[in-house]
Amino acid sequence: MSARIHPSILAADFARLGAELERIRTADLIHFDVMDYHFVPNLSFGMPIFETITASSPLPLDVHLMISDPGRWAPGYAEAGAASVTFHAEATDDPAAVARDIRAAGARPALALKPGTAIEPYLEILGEFDMVLVMTVEPGFGGQAFMPETMPKLRALRERVDAEGLELRLQVDGGIDATTIATAAEHGADTFVAGSSVFGAENAAAQIELLRETADA
Ligand code: DX5
Ligand code: ZN
Repeated sequence: MSARIHPSILAADFARLGAELERIRTADLIHFDVMDYHFVPNLSFGMPIFETITASSPLPLDVHLMISDPGRWAPGYAEAGAASVTFHAEATDDPAAVARDIRAAGARPALALKPGTAIEPYLEILGEFDMVLVMTVEPGFGGQAFMPETMPKLRALRERVDAEGLELRLQVDGGIDATTIATAAEHGADTFVAGSSVFGAENAAAQIELLRETADA
């Protein structure tokens, strides 16, 4: 399974967004971080910007909802054309129901875990999801340092997925660059969000290729 690279447009220059999307057209999906000043102490963008980008982007969007009450908002992103919709386990009492609503609305559901959140309570409902996002920073801001202490959880999840033969992508998000991506790949990640390291590179396409090759090595 070849590594997938999802640049996070949180790190893009929004004054020239069209050109920024062109710079990353060799990526796999575009990672779209929704923040609400409530689940996380930051605000980013929501549905109007999502619709604008979806209408003009050459790549589909991987939506990461860092919001409270995801059950209320997640299906709307699926209906509006998201390829996948990720929400946080910490933000809902019934993640399986939210996942089913996302799937029914036409997108792939994914479950995100903050660095301090264990996977064990969710092992029985993994079959509802197409992807699990193991956050490698505290959600809320781009440009933070990768947290290696999240790696045992990633490895445990990879072992479970392989033992049960589950069709589940394992994504990491936060502080992913050409060095940390190797660590995450060794511990079982196959899908990688990268904000600053892609948009901060002079040549974004070369950086995407470097990340992919490093993860696949
Ligand atoms: C953090 C967001 C990330 C962020 C990653 O809360 O979920 O997607 O944009 O940015 P970098 O790669 O700069 O850590
Ligand atoms: Zn994200």
